[in-house]
Amino acid sequence: MYFENNRNDALQNKFGILGKSAGVQAMLETIEQVAPTDISVLIAGESGSGKELVAAALHKHSKRSHKPFIIVNCGAIPAGIIESELFGHKKGSFTGAQIDRKGYFQSADGGTIFLDEIGETPLGTQVKLLRVLEQGEFLPVGSSKSMRVDVRIVAASNRNLEKEVDAGTFRKDLYYRLKAITITVPSLRNRREDIAILANKFASDCAIRNQILFKGFSEGAYKVMSQNRWPGNIRELKNFIESMVILEKGGVIKTDVIYRYLNAESTPTELNPLLPVKLDKNVDQAERELILQQLFMLRREIAEMKEIMARGLATPRGSEASADEYNPDLEVLPDDHVHEAHAEESPAILNPQMLGNLTAAQVEKELILRSLERFNYNKRKTALALQMAERTLYRKIKDYGIAKEN
Ligand SMILES: Nc1ncnc2c1ncn2[C@@H]1O[C@H](COP(=O)(O)OP(=O)(O)OP(=O)(O)O)[C@@H](O)[C@H]1O
Ligand SMILES: [Mg+2]
Repeated sequence: MYFENNRNDALQNKFGILGKSAGVQAMLETIEQVAPTDISVLIAGESGSGKELVAAALHKHSKRSHKPFIIVNCGAIPAGIIESELFGHKKGSFTGAQIDRKGYFQSADGGTIFLDEIGETPLGTQVKLLRVLEQGEFLPVGSSKSMRVDVRIVAASNRNLEKEVDAGTFRKDLYYRLKAITITVPSLRNRREDIAILANKFASDCAIRNQILFKGFSEGAYKVMSQNRWPGNIRELKNFIESMVILEKGGVIKTDVIYRYLNAESTPTELNPLLPVKLDKNVDQAERELILQQLFMLRREIAEMKEIMARGLATPRGSEASADEYNPDLEVLPDDHVHEAHAEESPAILNPQMLGNLTAAQVEKELILRSLERFNYNKRKTALALQMAERTLYRKIKDYGIAKEN
């Protein structure tokens, strides 16, 4: 037992990945085994759980550590340019390609490429990735000559790739090639025993960095933190601790302070035990429901706005029609219109008829804007909730000229 603890401590220190839970111990052992090899690795885990940290540890403890570690967020690159970004292009291969351009694979030569959110790559690009994985070669866009590179591939996804394969959005052959070595990063709520270690580390690092006093947490404080759900995993815990340590500089952090900050940060979807929300849904489901609620509220507002405008227009102010004859519902609002506006129980798609003069684009823009605000401009969460590829979301944000308001 003593030996095991020592080993776990040693691996935590070696990789800078904290945790003594069974899930983290198993993960550290796998990293120790596979890091020095050239084998490709798939890292699975929820957003904020530590996938990038694992990828960096794999690179740092390989014989490639002195060569580049290139991180590519596949979800953030527009589909139209992803191949040229990854594999480079020849001058003149498309409008705007004025010079030969090196892709990420070439830049990573000798080192490691980390393909984050690999589930977001278009199917056509997946074929090319499979070829690099199997043969170490690829064709730059517009070139007829294959290039060879010596790159280790580490990929990550917070989506369930098996489901993507079933849905036909991820290639089965690529999945099978990648999944041979899979490291699953456990979600924070499935390793609550690690929360105290992490909270302490984040708090003391933050205190040292900012030269402020941190005297520790009370037992009760640990308990409350370990009961929280942390849908944003370690990233969320880290941000939470850091803001609390900075704002509450000085004494021991007790339960009341934790409650205060949890309440301030919580949204109902975080399924915080402090809030009376149902626990029988997973976070994705709950978030999607929230977006749907927003959609219905938007529909209702638009319907109400239209109704008000219509009443304004139809009110027989100074006209010949008498007040008795006037029936706004019959005159202005067709039946289906009224029905649509109050049909909250069915999560139907927006009915364009109901939206009157608003174009589909305006409605979409509004929905994206509200969802972004709802998720504090976290694009990944927003895309997830809207069931939209992250790349599509980035494009729409750009197209609609949506900017974060400060
Ligand atoms: N086990 C751990 N010990 C210490 N710090 C950790 C651990 N896991 C994650 N972190 C820290 O938490 C933050 C989030 O981790 P990381 O960026 O690796 O998550 P991710 O899974 O890649 O998230 P995303 O899916 O959103 O890209 C980082 O600051 C990272 O250093
Ligand atoms: Mg990441």
